[in-house]
Amino acid sequence: MAEAPVVWVLNGPNLNLLGKREPHIYGHETMADVEAECRTLLSAHGVTLRFHQSNREYEIVDWIHEAREGGAGMVINPAAFTHTSVAVRDALATFSGPIIEVHISNVHKREPFRHHSYVSDIATGTIVGLGTQGYTLALQRVLRLIGAERG
Ligand code: DQA
Repeated sequence: MAEAPVVWVLNGPNLNLLGKREPHIYGHETMADVEAECRTLLSAHGVTLRFHQSNREYEIVDWIHEAREGGAGMVINPAAFTHTSVAVRDALATFSGPIIEVHISNVHKREPFRHHSYVSDIATGTIVGLGTQGYTLALQRVLRLIGAERG
């Protein structure tokens, strides 16, 4: 039997506080809730999930390097690193599968420094402002693009 495809979901700084942090902007769901929703969706399609969050830029970069070894696709919410990190961008540029950039909030309605992303122009697509549902919507697209849709 062929090995299950692996899809990565990566999250940047402060997203460990999801549910507690500025709930009027980011909602009440926690990272654990988001991970569970992602896992349920991917397992229904026979896809393995690697889900991580870190406050450290180098860890995100290292996970992207790991994903290069056989990762079929990626969803990433780089959080504040979106607006600052050439290192995360450069790592993502080496990943050959589809990459969907997700932001829970509508960054374009917020402060001007959130309007620029180092990731958007190298991502396959971007989902902003659809709350935590953005993660499963992004994964649905990744499933389609890697040919792993079922049902
Ligand atoms: C965010 C938006 C970023 O501007 C912010 O720094 C975050 C979260 C979002 O999901 O809406 O930490 O990526």
